[in-house]
Amino acid sequence: MVPQFTDSFDRRFYYLRLSITDVCNFRCNYCLPDGYKPHGTANKSFLSLDEIRRVTRAFAAAGTEKVRLTGGEPTLRRDFTDIIAAVRENAAIRQLAVTTNGYRLARDVAKWRDAGLTALNVSIDSLDARQFHAITGQDKFHQVMSGIDAAFEAGFSKVKVNTVLMRDVNHRSLDTFLDWIRSRPIQLRFIELMETGDGGALFRKYHISGEVIRDRLLMQGWTQQARARSDGPAQVFRHPDYQGEIGLIMPYEKDFCASCNRLRVSATGKLHLCLFGDGGVSLRDLLQSDDQQTQLQARIAASLHSKKQTHFLHQGNTGVTQNLSFIGG
Ligand code: 5AD
Ligand code: SF4
Repeated sequence: MVPQFTDSFDRRFYYLRLSITDVCNFRCNYCLPDGYKPHGTANKSFLSLDEIRRVTRAFAAAGTEKVRLTGGEPTLRRDFTDIIAAVRENAAIRQLAVTTNGYRLARDVAKWRDAGLTALNVSIDSLDARQFHAITGQDKFHQVMSGIDAAFEAGFSKVKVNTVLMRDVNHRSLDTFLDWIRSRPIQLRFIELMETGDGGALFRKYHISGEVIRDRLLMQGWTQQARARSDGPAQVFRHPDYQGEIGLIMPYEKDFCASCNRLRVSATGKLHLCLFGDGGVSLRDLLQSDDQQTQLQARIAASLHSKKQTHFLHQGNTGVTQNLSFIGG
């Protein structure tokens, strides 16, 4: 067993977020308003199934117990089901999640579960079909909702839903969201809009602090739950009258980074120490054969010493992150 990945601030990394493609078929206004366009690093292919197998093996050996597949839209990969199976070949990785826009769920979710997927996050910013269309550029609200039903039918006991909180778009819709989760085991997570390189104007227009939601929840008898070591950054709230839960992700809140337990690898194989960090450390040359595992682990472990204590979003410094389709939220 390799020593656990740790940084200079004694944070331990249990959680890998692995992007497997930058491509997306939605055009969420805060992410890809003009749709996906291949960028500068043109024709750089995304990690192959074998490269994915190797990178997750290295992380698993150093204490990673949870992997999230992200994108872009990860389910656009034709070999998505094989990727699930390849990651789950690592016995140490007991949790394998995907973040998806949900358009393929209804068709494929049962297959993914059979291959070893254990958790699902679906992005839904509005429960109104027309508004959903306006935000995502895709008239697929009903398809995504049937996808969530299909996930329950396939045996998922809980589904997480990501909702980007936007002033005057959905910040007054808490009651609608609450009604929806009253008798469904959904963890609905409001994510504060984050500023990205492309999104300065949008950020100024739509950003609103999650405090508006937190205040209302607390007033209505919701209570905050404790967090487990490989959990994501959400503050989770429960209420005895509701089967669902509410999560709040507030990256601008003081000390958000203190509990960071995750690392990211981009679809072209770069290790990113932070969503809003620097250019990343390429791992790809060490993903070419099974006998490079020791070197790969050494490179990752060494890179972690330069992980910063916090992001610099408060100073308006969004790092290299132009939009989140490239590194997967
Ligand atoms: N701010 C907050 N969340 C974002 N996402 C994408 N871009 C942003 C942003 N600028 C979210 C999506 C999805 C996840 C992949 O990241 O809504 O749920
Ligand atoms: Fe696609 Fe997700 Fe970006 Fe929306 S937020 S455009 S679904 S990558």
